[in-house]
Amino acid sequence: MTFKSFLIGMLASFGSAWLFVIAIPTAKMGSLEPLKMSAEADAEYYQRKTSGRLLNGSEIYSANACYACHTQLIRPTTLGREIWRVDSAGICDPAVRLDTRRETSPYDFQGEAYAQIGINRMGQDLSNFGYRAEVYAEAAGMTPEMWVLSHLYQPRNSALHIGDGGQKINVSWSNCPSQPQMFDKTPLNGQGSKLAIATDLEDETQIIPSEQAIVLTNYLLSLKRDDALPEKLDHSPKQLEGADSN
Ligand code: HEC
Repeated sequence: MTFKSFLIGMLASFGSAWLFVIAIPTAKMGSLEPLKMSAEADAEYYQRKTSGRLLNGSEIYSANACYACHTQLIRPTTLGREIWRVDSAGICDPAVRLDTRRETSPYDFQGEAYAQIGINRMGQDLSNFGYRAEVYAEAAGMTPEMWVLSHLYQPRNSALHIGDGGQKINVSWSNCPSQPQMFDKTPLNGQGSKLAIATDLEDETQIIPSEQAIVLTNYLLSLKRDDALPEKLDHSPKQLEGADSN
């Protein structure tokens, strides 16, 4: 091989890569205007979709008939005043001009095998339970995960419900079924498990949540169904006033 053909070969291999990867794309796309993203115009691209572990949680929710007493449906405003219920349809914080309240849309159940709209509302609507859990947990001085796990183990636990004045709210009437089958009582070894929701030092045992309880908890904490909808899908009243407790 002569030096000349070597040089031509080099130029051809680097030159064609430069031509196809840099020169032609730059000529074609260099003058494209950047796309401006706006929360309202592009909301449909950010639709929540339940997948993976949360989908398993949704199945556990169905399998244990949680839908028999809990809805996940903020009804259309033509059928009631649900959107104004405190902490039910989304967040309303006039101090930071944040108002995410809206009615339920069919897209809220994307990915789930069932739209968990429920058949009866004996317990609270859980559409936005993820937000409420954070508030309850802070009042009770625990993490939201611990709060939900403790509720699943023993719903009649008044230590979980702390009022504004710091007093315990009596929930001994609660008929939310306890789920003991989702927890194991294990011997206390060493410092014990960090996941334990209760430790009995006399008995030297701990109550440890099973994987099933943790996955269901993850699903319940993910329930925040108030992300912006494209205008054509959002039928909520446009002018919402402050929250009331109806
Ligand atoms: C027999 C009816 C019934 C069934 C079935 C039921 N619940 Fe409940 N649930 C209630 C009632 C009533 C309350 C309100 C009292 C309380 O806080 O315990 C409640 C409260 C809750 C809360 C607290 C909600 C809040 O905002 O304070 C959560 C979370 C919850 N239930 C989860 C579940 C899960 C998960 C299941 C299925 C494993 C389930 N429930 C099944 C009746 C039920």
